[in-house]
Amino acid sequence: MSLIDRDRAVLWHPYTQMLTAPAPLPITRAEGVWLYTEDGRRILDGISSWWVNIHGHSHPKLNAALAAQARELEHVVFAGCTHRPAVELAERLVEILPQGLERVFYSDNGSTAVEVALKMALQYWRNLGQPDRKKFTTLHNAYHGDTVGAMSASEDSVFTRAFSTMMFPVERVHGLEDMENRLRDAPDSIAAVLIEPMLQGAGGMIVWPAEVVAGVRRLCDEYNTLMIADEVLTGFGRTGRMFACEHADISPDITCLSKGLTAGYLPLGVTAATSTIYDAFLSEDRAKTFFHGHSYTANPLACAVAIASLDLFRDERVLASVSRLEQHLRDGFEPLRALGNVRVIGGVAAVALESDKPGYLDGIGPRLAAAFLERGLLLRPLGNVVYFMPPYCITESETAWALEQIVHVLG
Ligand SMILES: Cc1ncc(COP(=O)(O)O)c(C=O)c1O
Repeated sequence: MSLIDRDRAVLWHPYTQMLTAPAPLPITRAEGVWLYTEDGRRILDGISSWWVNIHGHSHPKLNAALAAQARELEHVVFAGCTHRPAVELAERLVEILPQGLERVFYSDNGSTAVEVALKMALQYWRNLGQPDRKKFTTLHNAYHGDTVGAMSASEDSVFTRAFSTMMFPVERVHGLEDMENRLRDAPDSIAAVLIEPMLQGAGGMIVWPAEVVAGVRRLCDEYNTLMIADEVLTGFGRTGRMFACEHADISPDITCLSKGLTAGYLPLGVTAATSTIYDAFLSEDRAKTFFHGHSYTANPLACAVAIASLDLFRDERVLASVSRLEQHLRDGFEPLRALGNVRVIGGVAAVALESDKPGYLDGIGPRLAAAFLERGLLLRPLGNVVYFMPPYCITESETAWALEQIVHVLG
């Protein structure tokens, strides 16, 4: 039996209508930007394997770090124990994160990093004796993950509608003016404002000006609430700066990291907070403890790969590669302006095609995905929004080839 037949017998894939979806790609190995299939095809990973891969697949230095760590310590409980990879990664993150983010809390993925941020914000106010600060303000078109809190904070959409009875209400706003009105009208009730800085990803690859990120910081200060920056997608260079908040030269009170954190190797989440937040949990009263944790919190294998990834950023001028990639994407997407709204930031380029039924369920998405795949390019359009987000290690000629396929299929 082929891998596909065996898969079909026992598996259930994410974000996949199992009745109508095409057969999954049977991947046997991967290297750099290329995926190799059981039936002998070579396919360019144009979505960085759901936005996680940054230095390329099967990177020798990351492989070596993982293997070395596996020989030393694979995992140990993180309540009551600590280990070198967790400590070293936290030290390295605190060094490079926006100023003031000095405490690292580990979890397992992007959604849990967001859950932790929401819970941390809520309990921060509770521990300070302000339990009425319990609402969250988020932006329309947001996507923060698929666990219940992260879904609640996301846009009300086809992703979340079936679960609406499980979710808590949030205040969704359209932009700064709307946000200011809500903050003014609801004094002392907002626990935090949560945004994806600079780039809203799953909501349609929407690029925001840096002034909005700076404006959110200003409003949070003015109305004395917390700012949470969800950098799960944008962190680690994806928008051209190490962290997207750097575009606006601001520091949030809490930030969420995952995806590129381990360069696409292993699941790991980080929620980093200021000392002010951390201090609010210090108490003789054990009820003020942050009661949150996961079996695999601070997994040493994941931490070791994350450290090796930061070494690559330091030693191999990775951000300069992202900046070169950005220029190629700008040039390559230029002709697509005739077809719809084009946006490019860092290592991400997108075109929102004119459509009668814009949105995730626009049938054009799967049709285009099949056409790209036919030409050896893996893309997963978000409905009518076609985007290209390759690993940063992509070469100039690989980029040119991929852009040629995109223009050919769309043109
Ligand atoms: C901005 C943002 N936050 C959170 C998440 C959730 O991350 P995960 O899929 O690792 O749970 C994603 C995933 O795409 C994301 O783009």
